[in-house]
Amino acid sequence: MPGFCSNTDWQKAVDAVRNSRRIVVFSGAGISAESGIATFRDEGGFWQKFPPEDFANWQGIAQVALFQPRRLAEFLIAVLEPIASAVPNAAHQSVAALQQTHDVAVVTQNIDGLHQEAGSQTVRELHGSLLRVTTSGHPPQKESLTREQLAAIVRDMKNLTGDWLWTPQLLKIVHPLLHVGASGFRRPDVVLFGDALAEPDWSQAEQDVHDCDLLITVGTSGLVYPAALLPEMARERRVPIIGVDPLTPCGDIYLCGKAATVLSELVAASGQNVT
Ligand code: APR
Repeated sequence: MPGFCSNTDWQKAVDAVRNSRRIVVFSGAGISAESGIATFRDEGGFWQKFPPEDFANWQGIAQVALFQPRRLAEFLIAVLEPIASAVPNAAHQSVAALQQTHDVAVVTQNIDGLHQEAGSQTVRELHGSLLRVTTSGHPPQKESLTREQLAAIVRDMKNLTGDWLWTPQLLKIVHPLLHVGASGFRRPDVVLFGDALAEPDWSQAEQDVHDCDLLITVGTSGLVYPAALLPEMARERRVPIIGVDPLTPCGDIYLCGKAATVLSELVAASGQNVT
């Protein structure tokens, strides 16, 4: 047993994984922390640098774009740069390894695409993805973006020189990500505060929780609804809940530690080979 948990909870967690067939892994920003992507509410977290009232809703972002374009560039660099260079860590790989012996549905609040890149087949992206853009229309058109495209946008924003052409140059650089034109309004396919959760992902996630016999919640403060309803729905069904977090006790079986270490040890101890 690794040195980060009480041995009772550790053995309970190993047994719960061994005795389950259909697992929901409910993940938040903490699972990607060891891939270099900042969480939102930890000390020094993202929202401390970019207050959500300005940057977590479309009206606020439009205001910043109009009156503080350089601040918008700072925000976009802070969001895009870590995701452009991120690779899945051992936590994402461990979740994917669970598919060798279990039906696994990943329900993530993250927009970084790392679960899919680690090999998870069923991923519900409740808050959308920064690796996809949507253009208004009936129906809205969705297009994928690569991490290389995000990296190029960051590089060009960083090279912007400071003169009166600065704003039109910025709009040209972010064109693949943000654009208003004859074809409609193109923006990242993400869910901000005040938006409805992504569908069909939310409905599928509710069904996943309805059908599961184990829920593993990892790296989330559990403060943002309606996503945070999912562990409550599992509890109402008396499904065992394993919580993985270094700071915030969570779940009925709490494993105190970082996701990469805890999940790789848990998945190994319950019999899967983590690649
Ligand atoms: N491993 C596991 N958990 C970690 C790690 C780690 N290495 N590092 C931090 N954590 C935990 C923190 O202790 C905290 O409980 O991850 C959690 C991160 O919480 P938040 O920053 O609130 O992120 P999250 O829960 O994903 O936020 C939910 O809020 O702002 C919105 O849309 C945003 O999707 C986001 C939603």
